[in-house]
Amino acid sequence: MNLKGIVLAGGTGSRLMPLTKVTNKHLLPVGEKPMIFYPIEKLTSVGVEEILIVTGVEHMGDVVNLLGSGKDFGCRFTYKVQDEAGGIAQALALAENFANSEPLCVILGDNIFQSSLTGCAQKYLKQGNGARLLLKEVSDPTRFGVAETEGNKVLRIVEKPAEPKSNRAVTGVYFYDASVFDIIRTLKPSARGEFEITDVNNAYIAKNQLECDVMQGWWTDAGTHESLKRANRLVTQEPPE
Ligand code: DAU
Repeated sequence: MNLKGIVLAGGTGSRLMPLTKVTNKHLLPVGEKPMIFYPIEKLTSVGVEEILIVTGVEHMGDVVNLLGSGKDFGCRFTYKVQDEAGGIAQALALAENFANSEPLCVILGDNIFQSSLTGCAQKYLKQGNGARLLLKEVSDPTRFGVAETEGNKVLRIVEKPAEPKSNRAVTGVYFYDASVFDIIRTLKPSARGEFEITDVNNAYIAKNQLECDVMQGWWTDAGTHESLKRANRLVTQEPPE
């Protein structure tokens, strides 16, 4: 498939301390595999052959030891170091050369979900440019980016709203064109000091270039003790496609 993959696996993992004291969150087990295998397998199963892995400097060695060249996964890995955890958009900015102006599927390394990406990837390639997000209804929207929607249209995304206007979380699966890097260059750090992916997505909304789908099947992040337990339970009960 004419799509490049990016798995963002940096960050501090602070919400999973002490599990993350000496290792990277994405190396922790979920079911019978390390967490990072799940987003990688989602990409390879839609035919993505080139995947960039971004992680912090502390655990890059372990990540490379685990994943290698990609031959065990039927793909080719490229690695980039994010010097400090300055946000998801900052991590994505490191992918500009790798992307080489080709369409991208970005997955946050702690996102685990049941359904295949084939349908959305095909829709994005047909869409041709702009961004495409996957939304999922959740019971705890204050933990996520939340989409305010009208029919199929996303009007605005608010990051971790105290009073969410909907229960549609923005999942950590994003399709972008090459203009994402120009958008990231215009961003300022948020109140929590991070370059926010939500600001990137709102910039696409402002250009009227953001489409979305609602994800089928189950979806969870695995970035807190509670959600990591949920991820373990879900992959065991209903393994991802
Ligand atoms: O899981 C979906 C949510 O992920 C979205 O709904 C939110 O809009 C989005 O901001 C994000 O929220 P989190 O607070 O859960 O993001 P977190 O800081 O936990 O980072 C998620 C992943 O992104 C993490 O597993 C690795 C990657 N990351 C994060 C940061 C802050 C990096 O690669 N580098 C970073 O500097």
